[in-house]
Amino acid sequence: MDSIAIIGGSPLNGSIPISGAKNSALKLMAASILTDQPLRLTNMPRLADTKFLGKLLRALGVEVTENGHGGEQETLFHAAEITSTFAPYDLVRQMRASFNVLGPLLARTGHAKVSLPGGCTIGARPVDLHLDALSRLGAAIELEEGYVSATAPKGLRGAEIEFPFVSVGATEHAMLAAVLAEGTTVLRRAAMEPEIGDLARCLTAMGAKIDGIDTDVLTISGVSSLNGTDWSVIPDRIEMGSFAVAAAMAGGEVRLTKTRADLMTALTEKMVEAGVDISPTGDGVVVRRDPGQRLKAVNVTTEVYPGFATDLQAQFMTLMTTAEGESVIRENIFENRFMHAPELARLGADIHVGAGEAVVKGVPALHGAPVMATDLRASVSLVIAGLVAEGETTVGRVYHLDRGFERLEEKLGACGARIRRITGEADEH
Ligand code: EPZ
Repeated sequence: MDSIAIIGGSPLNGSIPISGAKNSALKLMAASILTDQPLRLTNMPRLADTKFLGKLLRALGVEVTENGHGGEQETLFHAAEITSTFAPYDLVRQMRASFNVLGPLLARTGHAKVSLPGGCTIGARPVDLHLDALSRLGAAIELEEGYVSATAPKGLRGAEIEFPFVSVGATEHAMLAAVLAEGTTVLRRAAMEPEIGDLARCLTAMGAKIDGIDTDVLTISGVSSLNGTDWSVIPDRIEMGSFAVAAAMAGGEVRLTKTRADLMTALTEKMVEAGVDISPTGDGVVVRRDPGQRLKAVNVTTEVYPGFATDLQAQFMTLMTTAEGESVIRENIFENRFMHAPELARLGADIHVGAGEAVVKGVPALHGAPVMATDLRASVSLVIAGLVAEGETTVGRVYHLDRGFERLEEKLGACGARIRRITGEADEH
């Protein structure tokens, strides 16, 4: 297993290009199943997760061709014929987003058998909302031996679906199925994350009819077939936010490019409140903090978009470890998303985790140590801590980072971070 070693204390100065969003790319890839024509995705991040879903799509008969490198990457997906509608446990277990092939397979072929994704380290993460939505669209669903078998021999039918609470995955899944259903589907209490807007706009370019994009009510008039298109994946607001926090933590001046300032408004508000200087530019933001200036503690609560993203909670907690005062961080989306707290404590942070919240008392400095992460966003928070911890920090289990961050060491290294990858034996996953 690879690890990443960081020697803390160097400010960050320079420019970092933001990649395409993992959480949009994965759903756009699933959309390729809906048409027999090619879907060309540009600004495609090259990540372990996108590779992994590519493997599953190939197993279903989709031709996947990667072109380009170094930020100008594109991938062509061509599902001329679906040769299998079976997504086995091994290809779904490792990445929950693989489950989202169920709806498109069902919409295109009338049947599918897909493994249940199971839990993960950040919580139980059930898929009941996904299955309820598909059955309202007319699918007959059976659960057996860890698999979902779904059939709709006469095709899916439009329906009124009101989600009991907001779910990103269920909203996307219902939309992916409803675009080819007969009649009109209305999705109420839909999630409004920018990646959902990106998927809806790409589906529209493919010929789908969707009203209410970027609102919590989506009205979808089903069409009988979709065409291919060229689509540029939206910038990754979580990667952007992570680098913004890294710059604020290390001090210096970093320009984040190839992105949009409005994608991280909730984070910007909290960072500005803490004392960070953030200014929008034509293609992103500039983040500045004088390395001699100490930030102030502020409280955050994770919420659905446009609130503060759960995927930035670990990074923000890291920023608060050296701020002046006490910060209360509430996690409202997932039940077990504080695994980074004990690891940050190994670096000298003072964090007390209670029910659904963590209280962080700022300390003057962190100290390097070996640490280990259990999920993607927790891993990057430890790298960010390593940027200021005195001495060397090594972050183990880097395969978590590789799931969602493209060329992380290269991007931070180009701004002056002393960071290197230590290549270990073959990854265990
Ligand atoms: C997406 O997960 C993202 N993943 C997550 O990013 C992100 O943290 C999350 O949205 C929230 O923004 C992808 O897009 C691939 P949800 P998703 O359905 O769709 C519960 C990362 O690090 N729930 O909005 O799974 C669920 O357990 C990842 O990139 C049900 O109970 O999130 C959670 O508590 C981590 N039943 C809450 O809803 C369901 O059927 C919100 O989950 C579905 C969800």
